[in-house]
Amino acid sequence: MAIKTRGDLIRRYIDFFVSKKHKEIPSASLIPTNDPTVLFTTAGMHPLVPYLLGHKHPLGKRLVNVQKCIRTGDIDEVGNTTHHTFFEMLGNWSLGDYFKKEAIEFSFEFLTKVLKIPLEKIAVTCFEGDKDAPKDEEAAKIWQSLGISKDRIAFLPKKDNWWGPAGETGPCGPDTEMFFWKSNEKAPKKFNPEDKTWVEIWNDVFMQYNKNKEGKFELSKQQNVDTGMGVERTLAVLNGLDDNYLSSIFQPVIKEIEKISKKKYSGKENQKAMRIIADHLRAATFILGDEHAIKPSNLGQGYVLRRLIRRAIRYGRLIGINSAFASKIAEVVIPVYPDYPELLANKKFIIENLNEEEKRFNETLEHGMKKFESLVSSKIKEISGKDAFLLFQSFGFPIEMTVELANEREIKVNERDYKAEFEHHQELSRTASAGQFKSGLADSSKQTTKLHTATHMLDETIRRVLKDKNIKQRGSNITPERLRFDFNFPRKLEESEIKEIEETINKKIKESLIVKREEMPLKKAIESGAGYLPGAKYPDRVSVYTIEDKADKRGFFSKEICTGPHVSNTSELGKFKIVKEESVAAGIRRIKAILE
Ligand code: SER
Repeated sequence: MAIKTRGDLIRRYIDFFVSKKHKEIPSASLIPTNDPTVLFTTAGMHPLVPYLLGHKHPLGKRLVNVQKCIRTGDIDEVGNTTHHTFFEMLGNWSLGDYFKKEAIEFSFEFLTKVLKIPLEKIAVTCFEGDKDAPKDEEAAKIWQSLGISKDRIAFLPKKDNWWGPAGETGPCGPDTEMFFWKSNEKAPKKFNPEDKTWVEIWNDVFMQYNKNKEGKFELSKQQNVDTGMGVERTLAVLNGLDDNYLSSIFQPVIKEIEKISKKKYSGKENQKAMRIIADHLRAATFILGDEHAIKPSNLGQGYVLRRLIRRAIRYGRLIGINSAFASKIAEVVIPVYPDYPELLANKKFIIENLNEEEKRFNETLEHGMKKFESLVSSKIKEISGKDAFLLFQSFGFPIEMTVELANEREIKVNERDYKAEFEHHQELSRTASAGQFKSGLADSSKQTTKLHTATHMLDETIRRVLKDKNIKQRGSNITPERLRFDFNFPRKLEESEIKEIEETINKKIKESLIVKREEMPLKKAIESGAGYLPGAKYPDRVSVYTIEDKADKRGFFSKEICTGPHVSNTSELGKFKIVKEESVAAGIRRIKAILE
């Protein structure tokens, strides 16, 4: 049976790996909670970093899932047939269990037996070797033993066939990539990776090295397998489509854009704009609909969200859409993804925020465009930082949009001066700077681990001090410097309340409470009173972190379902101090705190 929908592909993949003794884990949130180096979850392996580094996963050593991901690194490429900001990644993992032989055999069996791809249409690449690691003859031999001819195996350097570390240090290794011949014409005997008719559909990474601080590649203690298959691209090529937007994932959205704009997607002049609108508003729907409920703002994820929505609106204008349309697109995106119940649960929030952001932007877009045109009409070569900042502040033009508009006219923008101007007017958030758009491994340093435990203590203490059982965590972000914690509460905290929170936590730190990790079925964890993030999806078996407290009638100070890691005793934390308490949205407060 042909695979026509994303649902078919995902189910087949997961069922296949479950039949090979893998446990299915749910997609994690798009917002990484313990990784300060990136704004979004960028790959299926990303939420699994602690386990790739050796922590024990409650579901065992073989895992499989489909993960929602966002990559904004090449947002400017969106508009072609294959690039997306939001995408889904299928993956299977071995955490110190099977290695190259089984991983390649599984991949081969899935491609040829489940997807029924004929052998003639498959080619692979392997790592060619360099000073850090030898040529991956082992992987190539396994492929050959399965029937892939020598001619169909290409050896490529690190830039093509090596994955990770995503940050400076951490697990990494050679990979082997699988290519599909997408044309109906017979594939050449000899594989040429430069020939674009060969499309990469799957990547098996063999994490057998650890890059250390000195830049040396040491053999790692635990050998892992990390694989990734992009759903959008694979579905398109399996259906003989040259353009991801023609697949069943995007067609409802494209049809809606055609209806609203009264233009045809088949008309080449409209395609780029329609793809950008479809891509960006799909991503915006997922960010707004995430368990963490991000809103458009000028900070971090909220800023990316704002850029995506505003860029989509501008492209809407270019194809003649003059009325509000963003939420209409979200209405057709949501039913494409019935397996992400958070979208439906947050539908009202998604629609309201899209409407509000579009309204706000539309109010200034026209005037802003007039201002922009008047700026560039005098044949200038560069837009000054001051003017770019004016476009941002008075007309809501994200700097990236001004740069894009200027580029279309071959004009530069003085982004350095813009940044200086921005910093001058408001404290530039670390997250809005380029650094955090890069992908990276979780920072599992001692300090983040400590702050993570402090976050659990804060979560519990807020409810106690403010005497409100309904307070729940609405977001959390930890860097080595500080923790950030969002929660629902209708008003500003009193000085005395802040003091009481600090004192309670510091008292508990001094009591040297033991932090215990246990694994148990999800149901049991919830019954035992463990806290969890509302709306988040958890696997059937979870790890629970308990901060024990004999003086408490429940026997614990705090208990939460959490992947960790945490310290083993609160005495390791030092002194807890709240440095900021503020509002981030209606009814949502934010606390920033440090450990001294
Ligand atoms: N982490 C690898 C990738 O992103 C495999 O999943 O391609």
